[in-house]
Amino acid sequence: MLKFVKNTPFIEDTSLNDILRVCKTPFYIYSQEMINQKVNYTKKILGNNIFFSVKSNSNQAVLKLMQNLGLGADVVSIGELKRSLTAGFDPNKIIFEGVGKSKDDLLYAIQKNIRLINTESLEEIKLLEKLAKEKKKKINIGVRLNPNIDGDTINKISTGKKTDKFGIEINDINYIINLIKNSPSLNLISISCHIGSQISKIDAYKNTFAEMKKAADKFVNAGVEIKHVDLGGGFHVKYKEGDPNFEIQDVKRELDICFGKSKYDISFEPGRYLTAESGMLITSIITKKQNGGINYLIVDAGMHTLIRPAMYNAYHEIEAINNKSKNKISYAIAGPICESSDVFQKDIKLSEQSIGDILLIKNAGAYGKVMSSNYNTRELPAEILVNKDVFAVIYSPQKIEKYIDEDITPSWL
Ligand code: LLP
Repeated sequence: MLKFVKNTPFIEDTSLNDILRVCKTPFYIYSQEMINQKVNYTKKILGNNIFFSVKSNSNQAVLKLMQNLGLGADVVSIGELKRSLTAGFDPNKIIFEGVGKSKDDLLYAIQKNIRLINTESLEEIKLLEKLAKEKKKKINIGVRLNPNIDGDTINKISTGKKTDKFGIEINDINYIINLIKNSPSLNLISISCHIGSQISKIDAYKNTFAEMKKAADKFVNAGVEIKHVDLGGGFHVKYKEGDPNFEIQDVKRELDICFGKSKYDISFEPGRYLTAESGMLITSIITKKQNGGINYLIVDAGMHTLIRPAMYNAYHEIEAINNKSKNKISYAIAGPICESSDVFQKDIKLSEQSIGDILLIKNAGAYGKVMSSNYNTRELPAEILVNKDVFAVIYSPQKIEKYIDEDITPSWL
């Protein structure tokens, strides 16, 4: 994503130094060209039925770009639904899922006539039936099934085992069929699944597809006309050397073997795969210190800016702009937050760094800014979109004073 031209770092045709002049660190930066390429490649292999998982990067500019590129939106909250509508997605290209949708959430989605509400529990199907009847509407729904497949990924981002909270157990299909057949207001037209994120093992996809095909056929044989089969997201992204080589062509091969001859309309909901590699977090070194023989570089990004390392032990490659000295030093890169887990890397070899130098934390375009917080009462990071030789600030954080003003001190204090 970054190239050096005469020792000056560039993203596309924009100099990082120009951005640093107008935007204070830490901030996220995205390359529009890289997002375009990744989306077009994914569409070329998997077809046009791609619903971008909004949770991975929900900036309005990114959503608008995804919409321009012809994708639909996969949302998991009313906030994400509102974001997607505001960005201009056709309601007919929005799928709403999530394990905890409230009555108000469902009513809002019904009113907006979105493509599908994917239900995740038997109780939710019953509630939707009641709401649709009250509104005198016939609505299209999907059910998210839990295929009981271990995606062999980080435990915290696994969603497809039967003990995970997501989806409805495949064993409950007969019960669902019964509910739908007795429902005057619901059309069950889709089944979906998502077994987790960062799934690299092709067997996990193969087994999931087989379970989903069996499930779809079971509905159809019972007279429930399933038209769409949504196979979720979860495509693996390489964060470091040695990570598995994952290719979506392999997914496509398994897809064709399993669904090739069927008439189901297949869709996917990737998030990370489309944006992770096109984003970087730019941070500067606040100070240096040595503790117990460890050379710490304390930077202004931290777990409040990018929580993945602290939360999942996730690895993000870090590159220094200052690579002048040939002699490499082992550093630990840590954020400013008062928690021991606020460390990005414990042992990275870099040229000698100085206070004020810039570091780049890579592959941060997915689950970066969206998971940032004001912890320790710090500002959120800004976001920048680069498009060839121009760039725009696409998120400008509120000042800390605004957050303080939002608290309300009761009169008795
Ligand atoms: N569909 C559903 C129903 C999902 O729950 C998710 C992600 C996706 C699609 C998109 O998955 P992707 O293609 O991005 O892997 N915060 C974690 C990732 C959590 C993913 C949650 N669900 C991380 O930073 O790794």
